[in-house]
Amino acid sequence: MIRGIGIDVVQVSRMQSWLDRPELLHRFFHPSEVELVQRRGRAAVLSLSARFAAKEAFGKALGTGLRTLALREICVTNDALGKPELLLEGSALDALKRAGGDRVFLSLTHEQDNAIAMIVIEGNG
Ligand SMILES: CC(C)(COP(=O)(O)OP(=O)(O)OC[C@H]1O[C@@H](n2cnc3c(N)ncnc32)[C@H](O)[C@@H]1OP(=O)(O)O)[C@@H](O)C(=O)NCCC(=O)NCCS
Repeated sequence: MIRGIGIDVVQVSRMQSWLDRPELLHRFFHPSEVELVQRRGRAAVLSLSARFAAKEAFGKALGTGLRTLALREICVTNDALGKPELLLEGSALDALKRAGGDRVFLSLTHEQDNAIAMIVIEGNG
C-alpha cells in the first residue's frame, strides 16, 4: 500500500552558486552525487537541482520534512536505462522504516530554471 507521496520544485539558478561551494555540496549531497559535478562541470546543475528536489520530496512523503534527516544520506542514482532510484543510508533509511516504507519510487524532470521531483513510498507492513 502507499505510505506517502511527496513533490518538490527547485529553482535551478539558485543552485548555480552551490557548484562553487564544496562545503555545501558535501553537506547536502552524497559523494556519488558530488561526483556528477566533477564529471559534468557546470552542466551538472540541472541534475543536482532535481536531486535536491528529490530529497525534499522524500521528506514530504515521510510527513516529517527534512528535520531529522542528513541530506547526504539520501542519494539519487540512475539505472542502466537512466531511470532514477533513491538509495537511502543511515538516518534516511531509519526514517523510511519508521514510516512503514519498504520501497521508494522516484520521478525527476528539469527544464530551464525548474527542477521537479515526485516520490511515492510503498510499504507492505
Ligand atoms: C517539508 C519541507 C521539505 C517543505 O519544503 P519547502 O521547499 O520549504 O516548501 P514547499 O513550498 O516546497 O512546500 C510547501 C508545502 O509543503 C507541505 N508540507 C509542509 N510540511 C510538510 C510535511 N511535514 N510533510 C509533508 N508536506 C509538508 C505543505 O503542504 C506546504 O504548503 P502549504 O503550507 O501551503 O500547505 C520543509 O518543511 C523542510 O523540511 N524544509 C527543510 C529545508 C532544509 O532543511 N533545507 C536545507 C538546505 S538549505
